[in-house]
Formats: sequence, structure tokens, C-alpha cells
Amino acid sequence: MACNELDYAYLRELVKAQSANTIDPSRNGLFDTKLTPIARMAGARSLKDFVDQLKTDRQAHMHRAVAEAMTINETSFFRDLKPFEMLRESILPRLIAQRAEQRRLRIWSAASSTGQEAYSMAMLLAEHFPATMGWDVKIVGTDISRYVVEYARRARYRRLEVNRGLPARMLMKYLERDGEEWIVHERIQSMCEFRQVNLCAPLPVMPQFDLVMLRNVLLYFTRQDRTVVFREVHRKMASDGCLVLGNAEQAEDSTNLFEVEFAANCYCYRPVPVS
Ligand SMILES: C[S@@+](CC[C@H](N)C(=O)[O-])C[C@H]1O[C@@H](n2cnc3c(N)ncnc32)[C@H](O)[C@@H]1O
Repeated sequence: MACNELDYAYLRELVKAQSANTIDPSRNGLFDTKLTPIARMAGARSLKDFVDQLKTDRQAHMHRAVAEAMTINETSFFRDLKPFEMLRESILPRLIAQRAEQRRLRIWSAASSTGQEAYSMAMLLAEHFPATMGWDVKIVGTDISRYVVEYARRARYRRLEVNRGLPARMLMKYLERDGEEWIVHERIQSMCEFRQVNLCAPLPVMPQFDLVMLRNVLLYFTRQDRTVVFREVHRKMASDGCLVLGNAEQAEDSTNLFEVEFAANCYCYRPVPVS
């Protein structure tokens, strides 16, 4: 038997409660595509049976698995290009000057998906700011989905993935071919670490970040959830740090904890001190 509107409404609520992601009813078909493999693994005969199982068993790990499976993990190396130009030309030179004494940089790729954003940041530093290679630099990638976190940790990408956004020269310089895949060089890998973190749950202990890349995830959240995330991100940032959002995302509608620093095709914010 197929799912009815009540079943889909239950799934939408479950996903919202677990990950804050809102799924429009017009996209109910996504549940069928993305959850049918999990339903089969759970021994259910259909998605409808699986929903009944979820309602009665209430197993936390199954609910989490549903929310993780429903995430949209679209990403690429140097995604959107503009933010990386802005990082190279303005943001990183300033941050690096500010940290010249400590020789330490902490960068957070929040909602890092399969890791391309974090590795792009590491390559950007290696390529344009070679002096920082002798610094204590760490790029922490986090994502709610265990699958993408493990994928990022492997640091292996298929041809289709390296062909998206990674200039040929960078590919040859910072990755090595291994059969059908490309592996990120150890030096770049060692600058990055990946952890499973839900942005909408209490955040784990993490360093204070100088730069936070929070791109293409807030658009799936309600304004109320965005407000909560901004508050937590603000608490994790250095007071002279910088927050970069995605092209379609702005902070002004849901928080007054950040103010715009640059807004040329991508939004970059500085934290506002809380009194
Ligand atoms: C569209 S991808 C964006 C990846 C990358 N930031 C970029 O811009 O290319 C969105 C990512 O956000 C993650 N995500 C969704 N909800 C999340 C949450 N509540 N906590 C942490 N990550 C979440 C998804 O798993 C997905 O990998």
C-alpha cells in the first residue's frame, strides 16, 4: 500500500524535529525515492509499512537515519567561486594579519557535506597563503549525515566530482589519481577533520572559530530555527571573526547578532558584540 497524506505529514514532522529541515508537500516524492532503501533494510514491505514501524517503534536511531537520508548533499569544490575570491582577496588577508602573532587559524565548514568545501579552503590557503602552512591551521567540517562525514574523511573523489569546480592545475597539484578516483594529498587532508554534528542540537565542544562557512543549509530551515543556529554559531566564533553565508542566504531576517561586512554576490558578516 502507498503512503497517504497523513503518512507524508508524519515524515515531514519527523524530519523537521530531527534536523530542522523543512520539506514542502510538493516534494513528497522525495520520501519515496530516498527512504525506500532504508525501509527495505529495516525489513518493511513498503514505505507505508516503514512509516507504521517508525510510529510504533520510536527507535531514535531509525528516526535519525530518516532525517539523514532526507538531507540534500549537493556541493562542489570552490562552489560559487565568488566567495572564494572574496576569501582570497579580502577575508583571509585580514584574518591572517590579525592572527600573525598566534600563528593559529580555526575554520569551520558547517554543513560540510562530502568535504569539498573544507578541502577547497585548505587548497586556497596552501596556494595563496603559503606562510600559513607553518601555522597551526585546522579546518573542521561538520554535517548531520554520518554518510557524508565518512565520505569526506576518505578524501577520495570520482572524476565527475573533481570535474566540478576544481581547476585542472589545482587537481594535479593537490590530488593524486588512484584508478577511477582522485585522492586529496596528505598535506591537505591533515589540515581538515570531519565530525558528525547537528546544527540544531546542542553543539559539542569545539574550538573558537576565526572563520565560519555556513553555506546552503539555512535555506532549508524555518526562520525560527535559523535564529537558534545563528545564536549558537555566534557563541562559537572569535569576536573579530567572519561568517560567510550562501548566495541565497542572509542573516538580517533572523538575527541581529551579525552585521554585513561585504555583500558582493555572497554574504559575509562580522559578529556583533553582545553586551
Ligand atoms: C546543500 S549541502 C551544502 C554543502 C556545503 N555547505 C556547500 O555549500 O556546498 C547542505 C548540507 O547540510 C547538511 N545539513 C542539513 N541539515 C543539517 C543540520 N541540522 N545540521 C548539520 N548539517 C545539516 C546536509 O546533510 C547537507 O550535507
